[in-house]
Amino acid sequence: MVLETIRTRRTIREFTSQPVSDDDLRTIIEAATWAPNHRATEPWRFIVLKKDGHMRKLVAQIVHDWTFENVKNPNPTRRIEGSAEAQREILDAPAFMYVYAEEGRNDEITQENYAATACAVQNLMLAAHSLGLGVGWSTGKPCLAGVGTTIGAEPDWQIVAALYIGYPADLQTAQSLAKRASVDDVTNWQ
Ligand SMILES: Cc1cc2nc3c(=O)[nH]c(=O)nc-3n(C[C@H](O)[C@H](O)[C@H](O)COP(=O)(O)O)c2cc1C
Repeated sequence: MVLETIRTRRTIREFTSQPVSDDDLRTIIEAATWAPNHRATEPWRFIVLKKDGHMRKLVAQIVHDWTFENVKNPNPTRRIEGSAEAQREILDAPAFMYVYAEEGRNDEITQENYAATACAVQNLMLAAHSLGLGVGWSTGKPCLAGVGTTIGAEPDWQIVAALYIGYPADLQTAQSLAKRASVDDVTNWQ
């Protein structure tokens, strides 16, 4: 059952308009918090930007402006469209959240915290998939735009993910396109 969920989960960026309930968001965040974490740091922090809320709109605008300034497509029309698209993706996502990892008291613990939080994100995605939801993990524009302190993250938290969440528009196509190298390609038995 777990294996089946692992194998059939896919990154999803296109969603239906069906809303995601706060109960479901709580369920998948709770699943995230069961991830392994060394020294019981529980380093993950989640910031949910409510659909149609002030903060979602503000962040979408910041990401729009950052994209316009920083993704300097030589085609000016494409540059305008790309910025608008980044903004729209954030506004349209049925649910949208940021995930951060707390800084540790030294570099080793900071690295462990980041790894643990990445495990938490995978837990969240698997739990979402088991509820029929899809998740798109981005470390791109919404993370690079540096919205941290605006949304209430501490300055020393490390950004791990921006997550677009909703009911998949077409899970089957994503599943049919997915592929992985074989175990023998990635394993050296000594
Ligand atoms: C750390 C991390 C960062 C990612 N960042 C992005 C991103 O910025 N944009 C994007 O489209 N997908 C991003 N992805 C999603 C991957 O591209 C996706 O997992 C990959 O295409 C494999 O697809 P699958 O998740 O359906 O197996 C990210 C995934 C991970 C684990």
